[in-house]
Amino acid sequence: MTTILVTGGTGNIGRQVVPLFQAAGRTVRVLSRNAGDRGDGVEYMAVDLLKGDGLDQAVAGVDVILHLAGGPKGDDLGTRNLVKAAEQAKVGHLVHISVTAVDKLPLTYFKSKLGAEQAIRGSSIPSTVLRVAQLHDFAWNTVRAMAKLPVLPIPGGIRFQPVDGRDVAVRLAELTLGEPQGLVADLVGPTVYSLGELAHDYLRATGKHRLSLPIRVPGKAGKVYRAGDNLTLTGADVGTHTWDEFVAAQRAAVRV
Ligand SMILES: NC(=O)c1ccc[n+]([C@@H]2O[C@H](COP(=O)([O-])OP(=O)(O)OC[C@H]3O[C@@H](n4cnc5c(N)ncnc54)[C@H](OP(=O)(O)O)[C@@H]3O)[C@@H](O)[C@H]2O)c1
Repeated sequence: MTTILVTGGTGNIGRQVVPLFQAAGRTVRVLSRNAGDRGDGVEYMAVDLLKGDGLDQAVAGVDVILHLAGGPKGDDLGTRNLVKAAEQAKVGHLVHISVTAVDKLPLTYFKSKLGAEQAIRGSSIPSTVLRVAQLHDFAWNTVRAMAKLPVLPIPGGIRFQPVDGRDVAVRLAELTLGEPQGLVADLVGPTVYSLGELAHDYLRATGKHRLSLPIRVPGKAGKVYRAGDNLTLTGADVGTHTWDEFVAAQRAAVRV
């Protein structure tokens, strides 16, 4: 039976993909820094990808890896460690989640995600890479953090195509259960929103009131955002669940 290793399988996206593999009858192993038996039929292994101890055991006997583990920085190093172990174990397919505009934005997170893509492209393992726009939860958490300030700073020109975690999970499962395809079409949400619009929706849904203060994003990143070069407006796969649905669910949760 096919064994799938999901790195970062305990995270937001990972928790939504793992049950899809179980439903498809696959054996699932999950790698993250904090493991522990959850009694759900999944084998959990504690490995820090940045250190690499225990990685050889984690990839042993694995047919396919879905690589989701990541954080604000260091994904290039963690991915290089994973790729090395996976090559030795002769893993047949490595699927990687990356982020839209990874090759355009000169910011630490995007640079390390690009380094991760390069490590995979330069390896001997057949691979599939999916670049995904910001998730609804990410957009929500971003505006929630901004709204902690008494005055809401709104960086002008920043627009996102927020996408639902369920759409991301379904696409990742499809790619992981399929043949290696290299870099596939980006996955984005159905609508483009400015950060100001997302913040406004957050404030309305939570009944908060803030004065807003337009600010300018400096440097090359600012130029990329203002030009909309972080967006994928043509040729993308488009998720089905909307930001409005997500906000309505958050509003209902606030009322409970
Ligand atoms: N959320 C978004 O909007 C978005 C958009 C595009 C792409 N992505 C990418 O999608 C991936 C998953 O995102 P997510 O939102 O599900 O993130 P998340 O909820 O923060 O989950 C991250 C996962 O990675 C594990 N992890 C982190 N550092 C690790 C390390 N050094 N070694 C081993 N495991 C590690 C975490 O578990 P432990 O903490 O237990 O180690 C957790 O399981 C990330 O690579 C992210 O860059 C996310």
